[in-house]
Amino acid sequence: MARPIIAPFPATRLRRMRRNANLRAMVTETGLAPANLIWPIFVTEVAGAEGEIASMPGVERLTLDGARRAAERAARLGIPAICIFPHSDQDLKTETCERAWDPDNIGNRAIRAIKETVPELAVMTDIALDPYNINGHDGFVVDGEIVNDETVEALVKMALVQAECGADILGPSDMMDGRIGALRMALELDGYRDVAILSYAAKFASAFYGPFRDAVGASGRLVGDKKTYQINPANRAEALRCVARDLAEGADMVMVKPGLPYLDICREVKDRFDAPTFAYQVSGEYAMIEGAIRAGWLSREVMLESLLAFRRAGCDGILSYFAPAVAEMLA
Ligand code: PBG
Repeated sequence: MARPIIAPFPATRLRRMRRNANLRAMVTETGLAPANLIWPIFVTEVAGAEGEIASMPGVERLTLDGARRAAERAARLGIPAICIFPHSDQDLKTETCERAWDPDNIGNRAIRAIKETVPELAVMTDIALDPYNINGHDGFVVDGEIVNDETVEALVKMALVQAECGADILGPSDMMDGRIGALRMALELDGYRDVAILSYAAKFASAFYGPFRDAVGASGRLVGDKKTYQINPANRAEALRCVARDLAEGADMVMVKPGLPYLDICREVKDRFDAPTFAYQVSGEYAMIEGAIRAGWLSREVMLESLLAFRRAGCDGILSYFAPAVAEMLA
């Protein structure tokens, strides 16, 4: 008789532990919980600008009262942190960006409002000049160039005011060189030694930020692009060097941004540095997923699956516009 050409049974039957929900639960490797989420919100000071953002269906620009309600909702859902992005009056944007360190700008008012409403909720900020810059850049523009060191001085002023307003976590998203060291030193010297820095360390020059720029009213404004300070999407080693540098300069946590297209970077950052690692599922990623769900092309489960993928890739947490919806699904 001819010898069998395949073994009579598979050596390994991985399907054994997939047979039912309890068996699957026993071998689940990563989890997703509300504690893994940071919820980015947009807060506006412009009358009439509140409401849905066209390129981010389901996401609204909030008033200060709306921000207070969002904070209560986050606390109810077990989301530990909210990240504030200001939408400011176009007429108040200047080349010199002084509104950026005004204690009464809308971002700083939102910090105070949220800390008054839900003191224990962690408030994260954004540090960059773009919401207040007439040309939409994260740094000062001098003769067509985004100047580094002068920008860092302004970022320090922003940071100290945000810390004074009660921010728990500062999020420098500007990608200037040397800003983490400068911020850390200023915070220590001015008595804010417990204010944390979550550095946008590996931030790529991405077209996925488009809807965000609509949300903060910067899209029509941006002169040129951000390629002289954000990382080339082709580069991996450079992103790792940015993370190493920011940790050495005193960042408590680091971020990779955008998220899903950069999961390879997330995994490598976690493996190499073993520091608290976050990813930002940015506005364009939100728009793609939410758009497809609304069109009926994808089911809502893709929200959870996309966030779980970050956890599998080693992220401790994810900034996501889906945060409240997902926390509700998980409840
Ligand atoms: C700018 C900033 C951006 C985002 C967060 N902070 C956009 C940019 O760099 O142009 C993007 C977030 C998103 O797309 O959801 N300081």
